[in-house]
Amino acid sequence: MSEETTPGPDMYTTAGKLIDLKNRYHEAVTQSGEAAIAKQHAKGKKTARERIEQLLDQGSFVELDEFVRHRTHAFGMEKNRPYGDAVVTGTGTIHGRQVAVYAQDFTIFGGSLGEVAGEKIIKVMDLALKTGVPIIGMLDSGGARIQEGVVALGKYGEIFRRNTQASGVIPQISIIMGPAAGGAVYSPALTDFVIMVDKTSQMFVTGPDVIKTVTGEDVGMEELGGALTHNTVSGVSHYLASDEDDALDYVRTLLGFLPDNNMAELPVYESKPELEITDADRKLNTIIPDSPNQPYDVHTIIEHLVDHGDFLETQPLYAPNIVVGFARIEGRSVGIVANQPNAMAGTLNIEAGEKAARFVRFCDAFSLPILTLVDVPGYLPGTDQEWTGVIRRGAKLLYAYAEATVPLITIITRKAYGGAYIVMGSKQLGADLNLAWPTAEIAVMGGQGAVNILYRGEIKRAEAAGEDVAAVRTKLANEYTYNVASPFLAAERGELDGVIEPAATRIAIVKGLRALRTKRASLPAKKHGNIPL
Ligand code: HXC
Repeated sequence: MSEETTPGPDMYTTAGKLIDLKNRYHEAVTQSGEAAIAKQHAKGKKTARERIEQLLDQGSFVELDEFVRHRTHAFGMEKNRPYGDAVVTGTGTIHGRQVAVYAQDFTIFGGSLGEVAGEKIIKVMDLALKTGVPIIGMLDSGGARIQEGVVALGKYGEIFRRNTQASGVIPQISIIMGPAAGGAVYSPALTDFVIMVDKTSQMFVTGPDVIKTVTGEDVGMEELGGALTHNTVSGVSHYLASDEDDALDYVRTLLGFLPDNNMAELPVYESKPELEITDADRKLNTIIPDSPNQPYDVHTIIEHLVDHGDFLETQPLYAPNIVVGFARIEGRSVGIVANQPNAMAGTLNIEAGEKAARFVRFCDAFSLPILTLVDVPGYLPGTDQEWTGVIRRGAKLLYAYAEATVPLITIITRKAYGGAYIVMGSKQLGADLNLAWPTAEIAVMGGQGAVNILYRGEIKRAEAAGEDVAAVRTKLANEYTYNVASPFLAAERGELDGVIEPAATRIAIVKGLRALRTKRASLPAKKHGNIPL
């Protein structure tokens, strides 16, 4: 590694200085060494520089701090002071738009975060915040640099504070491309989206060895904190990438939906929607099954409503009973929240509520209108839900909608029962345009449940008379649904703004979003609210 020595006479000339610069730069970008790079590649992982090159538009990367070196003397580290330390930082563009990036370099000190690696990340975060551009972190690190002790821990603290202050100001994205261990996981946790690469990334606060010592539990690294676990079980991650290329592609696509910052306009893409009902629109007229118990895939509805049928789902594997993600309508980004009848009949549970609440808050922070598609039979009943806090945790989604000031459009396609009707972007919570299909059922509870309470006597009578009780129940339930749960009752009271043919939905949304583009709304002045956490 380059150390300061007495310069030769050539170094006093301009030409000599230029050669010196070139040599140092070459050293900075190549010092990982072929062996370390080969080791990285053998694990199916790219180097930090390769990742940055692939994420950004070709040739757009401008590096910062490539000549930074650590100042540690502990453990003889002064003998090894690689340029740039264990992280590569800088700026560049994605689809021509500015972003800031950092990529931890596992080939240098295991990507560990010491004083100067921390300072580099902090500097590029400050730059992102100052210039109002998204920041993307690529994490691949052994965590706090053990040799640097409290100094390393302190830098994490500074990073967490910046993650928090940047929250809701600039989009923050973390791509986990190797280990993220200990308290280091909390930087990605504070960011808006966490993408993990299957098999090569892990996140955990305490690793398998510590767990074994403290609790006696035997668990492998992958099962404990691999990408599949965090995408399906914990909900920490928003996308399970099959490999690094997939992760980087996903992030490029995701950024295409987002503004640069909370004060910036949303990106607008060329699009001229058809304003007459099309054959594709008419397919929506047949999507709702006659039987209220028969499921369907809400993705089909979403794909019929958005530009080119393109929908970028986030957290598709976690709480699949609610679907969230981004699409464009008339070339402009929208966030979509939809109950999924195909999973747990679309009921709301704690996981679904938290997933959707965080998504709604993201959209609201970054000015994305929210389209909500409602088909929800209610909250999932059970002691498990009650005892793990469905009251406190379920309240988050209510809070998120009630606080949102972006344009809110809600379409009730089928069931909208009880508290779940209110929470899913109801008029009363502040939605701007609430429409329903004629197949909508809006009531305190579903037909079968209501019949058990309202028609107890009638059913007993039918039983005593030896009638076909199931048929009586179905008849009464249908009557109830028609008379009490009819969307026309809600429309009569103005709780809906209209009842529309499914085929007309796409056009209604296009026109609704146009009408709401100039929406102005604000909340009472406060330091911040106190969302139930
Ligand atoms: C210094 C580290 C390091 C660290 C790895 N290295 N982690 N150096 N500080 N935290 C070095 C290794 O010594 C090794 O150096 C090189 O990086 C590659 O590491 P390997 O162990 O050879 O790689 P691998 O087998 O792939 O294992 C990766 C690993 C393991 C699972 C990450 O290195 C590991 O367990 N590291 C310690 C993880 C940890 O407990 N970190 C502290 C977490 S707590 P050589 O010279 O041999 O190539 C934390 C607190 C944050 O981070 C608090 C925030 C508030």
